[in-house]
This record gives sequence, structure tokens and C-alpha cells, in this order.
Amino acid sequence: MNEADPQDFTSHRRQPAKKIMTKPKDGVPEVEAGVRSEPATNRISVDPDSLPTIPAAMEYDYTNFYFGAGTDAFALLEPFDDWWGQVHPAGYYLYELPLRSAPSTRVDVEDTKTGEIRRGLVNFASYNYLGLSYRPEVKEAIKEAADIYGGGSSGSPILSGTTHLHEQFSAEVAAFKGKEAALIFPTGYSANVGTIAGLMRSGDLIVADQYAHASIVDGMILSKAKSRFFRHNRADDLDRKLKGFDGKKLVIVEGVYSMDGDVTALADIVAVCRARGARIMIDEAHSAFVYGATGKGVVEDIGLDDEVDIHLGTFSKSLGGQGGYTAGSLKLINYLRGFSRSRFFSCALSPVVVAGLRKALEIASNEPELRTKLWKNVAYMQKLLGDAEVPIGDSTSQVIPIMVRDDARVLAMGEELFREGVYINPVIYPAVGKHKSRFRMSISAAHTSEELEEGAAAIVRVLQRFGICP
Ligand SMILES: Cc1ncc(COP(=O)(O)O)c(C=O)c1O
Repeated sequence: MNEADPQDFTSHRRQPAKKIMTKPKDGVPEVEAGVRSEPATNRISVDPDSLPTIPAAMEYDYTNFYFGAGTDAFALLEPFDDWWGQVHPAGYYLYELPLRSAPSTRVDVEDTKTGEIRRGLVNFASYNYLGLSYRPEVKEAIKEAADIYGGGSSGSPILSGTTHLHEQFSAEVAAFKGKEAALIFPTGYSANVGTIAGLMRSGDLIVADQYAHASIVDGMILSKAKSRFFRHNRADDLDRKLKGFDGKKLVIVEGVYSMDGDVTALADIVAVCRARGARIMIDEAHSAFVYGATGKGVVEDIGLDDEVDIHLGTFSKSLGGQGGYTAGSLKLINYLRGFSRSRFFSCALSPVVVAGLRKALEIASNEPELRTKLWKNVAYMQKLLGDAEVPIGDSTSQVIPIMVRDDARVLAMGEELFREGVYINPVIYPAVGKHKSRFRMSISAAHTSEELEEGAAAIVRVLQRFGICP
């Protein structure tokens, strides 16, 4: 096909992707999941001729290949393949680059474009917020469990897949979170899907923050309940969305928002939920084990732990492993045990993984200095980026977005950063709203000051080159 002609990608019928959207009410414009409403800030004008040439194919994204093109179920494969063939070498290749080392603060990464292995890159891409995934004690626990249990659990948790380790771990998670009980899921994704769809039914109402993670959105879809979104962190808009609905209501927020790094406005949201008779669920994927005096999460930090009905999170971020959990009252957990299909129709977590998680949880409990170090690192990175006027949105956490707001540019910058010794992920539509592309930076307690300085200096250099900061 003609490489210069983007129309070739759309020989099929173009239609917008289907979104969870609801009708306007009370004069309040409806919001779409994941889309920010504020205007762009911190833009520096830049001479367009100085920017790298961007292929026309970059004007298209995944949503252009979602609907249309006739009656064959495979009809979209070819136009998608043509498009992919152009955008992959032009920047999309930065995704799924194979790591050749542990997700430590420095990583070795395979450059699939050149075939080289780039060694010792400063890593801001992994979620390993406390640096636990590769701790020697964790690795030792994993090896010991492998000797006893082998590789996998070989069964659903309700059939043969539950080991003694699983039972102990779910009790330890409940104790750590200060709840009566906890249920372990194979991933954080399945914890959200299984909890939301396990509890809510057709005819009920679920209202989530507009920045809710895809796993929350998918749980809402699967539940068949009426799904709505309130403006990010706006309790007044949540109130409007709940008003007048008489049935069962569930409100869902995140502790720290995964792409923006800001914290939930929990106090106001809880007040609205209580006034409107709605149950509230918090996804602490990015805040459990790092926020709060004992690491329980944002709920503990804000002092509203007991006001929240459902506490959910993952083990893939701060604990550096894999899996998800829901914690709460024993009756809630018993009910979800019976109705969370994503848990009991799926193989239980490998006992090897559970053994590593138990050790990681023990370390997170016994070494509060890890959290202190993390917050020191976050403050230092905020200063380094702040001094250089890098646009980081409203982040106050270890998740720091670097706003670029242009898909093609963020990919071109990602490539330069990769070559300058920094591993950081570009995030583009549809993972974030249109024109909200960014880098998503994760800070770890394990980063040294030198690594933070080296990484920040490279980031600032590249941002300046592309006119994103002065
Ligand atoms: C807020 C939130 N919830 C859930 C998940 C899914 O967790 P997992 O990767 O453990 O499936 C993520 C993952 O990034 C997330 O950011």
C-alpha cells in the first residue's frame, strides 16, 4: 500500500469506538472514562520544522480498527496489519521490549529495532515501588516453595488450587489491611472484574471516577449494571450522578490514580456516598503498602479506613510480584467467594509466587524505612523536575506523569530517551485520553540519588529538545 496515504487504513467503514457514556442530566456534560477536561498547560511553542518527521499513519490509533469492514470476522485484520507495519518501526516498537534483567533500578533491555541489548538503563518503567521483587529473601522463599510445590497450582482455588501458602497469605493480607478477611485473585485486573461483577447486577448503579482503570471499567461492563462516571475527584458531580437513583449503588475510586499520580478526594466522596446510601470501593493498586503510617494505603493516610466498604489492590506494584486481593468484612468476602467468577473459573496463583509475596509482605511490614526512602526519592525527583519546569500534572505520589500531549512526539521522545540511557514508558491513546499522551514515571525506594539525577538530566535534555520544557 502507499505509505504516504493514511486513507488506505480506512478502506473499511470508520465508526467511533463504543464507549461507556450516559445521557446528559441536570445540565452537566457527561464525562468519558479516562478523559481529562482541563486545558493543556505548560506548552512551549516550538518550530514544527525542528521536529522529527512523523508518518501519516500516526494520525490513526487502535480505535480506527475497532468497527466496520463488512461481514467477515477477520475483515479488520489486514487494515490493522498495514497500519501496524508503519507505526511499529516509527515508535510503537517501544512496547513489549524484552527485559534481560530483573526490574531493578537499572535494567538491560533488548532493542528490537537494532538487535542490541541496552545495558544499565536507569529504570523508571517498573512498578517495583519498594524494590521487593528481587530482594534476596524473596528469591530464597520462591526457591524453597518451588522445591516443595513445583511450578504451578494446577487448579482453581475452590477445587484443588489452594495450598497452605494461599491460606496463610490471605490471612496475612487481611491482618495487614486490618480487615476481617481477604480474597486472593490471580491478578489485580481479575480482582476488579470479579469483585465488581460478583456484587453488582443488571438494574443496579455503579458510578466510578472518570480516570478509573480499565479493569474497573471492564468489571462495570461485565456486571451489566448501569455504569456512569463522575468528573475526576469531583464529589459534587458524583452527587449529581447518584441523585434520584433508588436501587443498589456502588461508587468506585482509586487511592492513587495510575496515570496521573494524584490522590483520591476521599473525604468528600465518602460524605456523598453516606448521604446517598451508596457503598464505596477503593482500588489501592498504587497506594497499598506505600501510603499510611503502617502501609495500609491512602485510606489510612487520610484517616478514613473504616469508612470504605471494599478495599482492593494488587501485589504487582509495591510488593513486586503478581496477584490481586479484595479485603473487607467476612460476610463480603464469603459472598464474593461464591460469586467472583474471575477467581473460581481461573487457576489459583502459583504457590511459588505466593511464597515470594508472603516474604515481600513481611518485609513491607517490618521495614517502614522503605516507605520513608520512597517518599524521600519522590520529593527529590519532584524537585529535579520542578526546577526544570517539567510538566507533571497534579502528581503528588511515586507515579509521576510527564505530559507531552502528542502521541507521535511522545513516541519519538521515548526512542531518544531509550538511546540516552533511560527506560520509561510512553503512554498514548486509548490508555489515556486523546491529546493526553505522556511518559509515566515510577519512582522506587531502591533508586539511588545518582540514578535519579542521571535519569532526570536525560529526561530534561530530551524534553528541551522537543520543546516540552524551557
Ligand atoms: C488502578 C489499577 N487497578 C488494577 C490494576 C491491575 O493490576 P494487575 O496488573 O495486578 O492486574 C492496575 C494495573 O496497572 C491499576 O493501575
